[in-house]
Amino acid sequence: MGRIIIAPSILAADFSRLAAELHRVQAAGADWIHCDIMDGHFVDNISFGPEVVRLVRKETTLPLDVHLMIEHADHYLPRFVKAGANSITVHVEPEAKHDVLETLRKIRESGCRAGLTLNPETPIESIEPFLGQFDMLLVMTVHPGFGGQPFRDDQMEKVRRAAKWNESREQKIDIEVDGGINPQTARISIENGANVLVAGTSIFRSDDYAKAIRELRGE
Ligand code: DX5
Ligand code: ZN
Repeated sequence: MGRIIIAPSILAADFSRLAAELHRVQAAGADWIHCDIMDGHFVDNISFGPEVVRLVRKETTLPLDVHLMIEHADHYLPRFVKAGANSITVHVEPEAKHDVLETLRKIRESGCRAGLTLNPETPIESIEPFLGQFDMLLVMTVHPGFGGQPFRDDQMEKVRRAAKWNESREQKIDIEVDGGINPQTARISIENGANVLVAGTSIFRSDDYAKAIRELRGE
């Protein structure tokens, strides 16, 4: 297992000082910036769109990890690519209303890494037909829509399954967890095989971002 990647979710940042927040979290040792895009349809919340991602791109040199919790991801994809995304993750559920295979193909064709994700209620089997077509599995450890929810350790089964895929397949995928990640749940996730940790509250609501990031890495 290589180094653990820490991807702070700016959903929990102070949006009135977003540029300063980005500078601060990059200086604190973040690896990627996680952008949670919510449309008020696929999830019961509205966050921000491609224009904010474009502004984020201008304020950080870190890779932008864009998590689309939206309907019709295929339609909006080009706007997020143009805004500067480096990886784009889409949902597998039918409620996301897109052709998953086609969307993954379009993401890769655009030069971005493709991620696939699923809600806690969605079985891991729904992802399996797409193996080989994506670069990262995002395991939601809360129901998507809001930051600050408690971690669901019943989702670790999915992390273990993905780690098994990596043992048996040549093409390795990143295993990312998202929701309720703090030093304790980070350790549980890493022990089960995750290598990318998304964290909003535990970083942006702390006083010392560098310390929060070190603690997530288990340092
Ligand atoms: C949940 C989002 C998460 C969320 C994580 O819908 O996908 O990225 O912001 O936030 P915390 O770390 O506060 O649970
Ligand atoms: Zn997310």
